[in-house]
Amino acid sequence: MPEGGELSNGVKRMEGYRLNPLLSREEIASIVKGLSDQISKDYGERELVLVCILKGAFMFLSDLIRQLQISVQVDFVRLVSYGAGMRTSGKIKITKDIEIPIEGKDILIVEDIIDSGRTLQFLKDRFSLLKPRSVKVCALLDKRARREVEVEADYLGKEIDDVFIVGYGIDFNETYRNLPEIYYVTPIDHQKE
Ligand code: IMP
Ligand code: MG
Repeated sequence: MPEGGELSNGVKRMEGYRLNPLLSREEIASIVKGLSDQISKDYGERELVLVCILKGAFMFLSDLIRQLQISVQVDFVRLVSYGAGMRTSGKIKITKDIEIPIEGKDILIVEDIIDSGRTLQFLKDRFSLLKPRSVKVCALLDKRARREVEVEADYLGKEIDDVFIVGYGIDFNETYRNLPEIYYVTPIDHQKE
């Protein structure tokens, strides 16, 4: 892919980094459809609350719920763990909590990527205190090789290598969220080129 210039929908490339295609719109759509079908089948008539982790999972959630064949409620949490860089700080803070009471309900946490697993472990522990009927996880992507705590997605789109990704809601320093495809970011080493 050429350096500089514009991406699919006018998004400017960040200087010094290359964006390499990882998943096309069609590939994402087919993954999301597969997950929705499974979720619809498993939950059926049960009272399901989808809890989307902001900001990264907003696009995934919006595509996922439009494919679901069951009625659901939707809520959001916002957690802060990543700084401005590419690695987690390990510290997690909740800056926006859920508003729907979840006692006795089935909860499905919707996450963009599982990395160390700390975000999900934090949320699962926190929600369990509120006595839901069940707490499960639906994640679009999983960097399993980077796991630091034991947590798995009950519904997983795709396992990926240890690369930094952007697009489809997922950012690098708050940029690239509106790309409809998913890319992995690599620094451009001018000496090697
Ligand atoms: P964990 O707590 O280490 O599992 O981190 C999960 C969170 O880190 C995700 O919700 C993402 O917001 C963020 N994250 C992990 N990997 C990436 C990436 O490759 N690009 C952008 N954000 C990422
Ligand atoms: Mg996130």
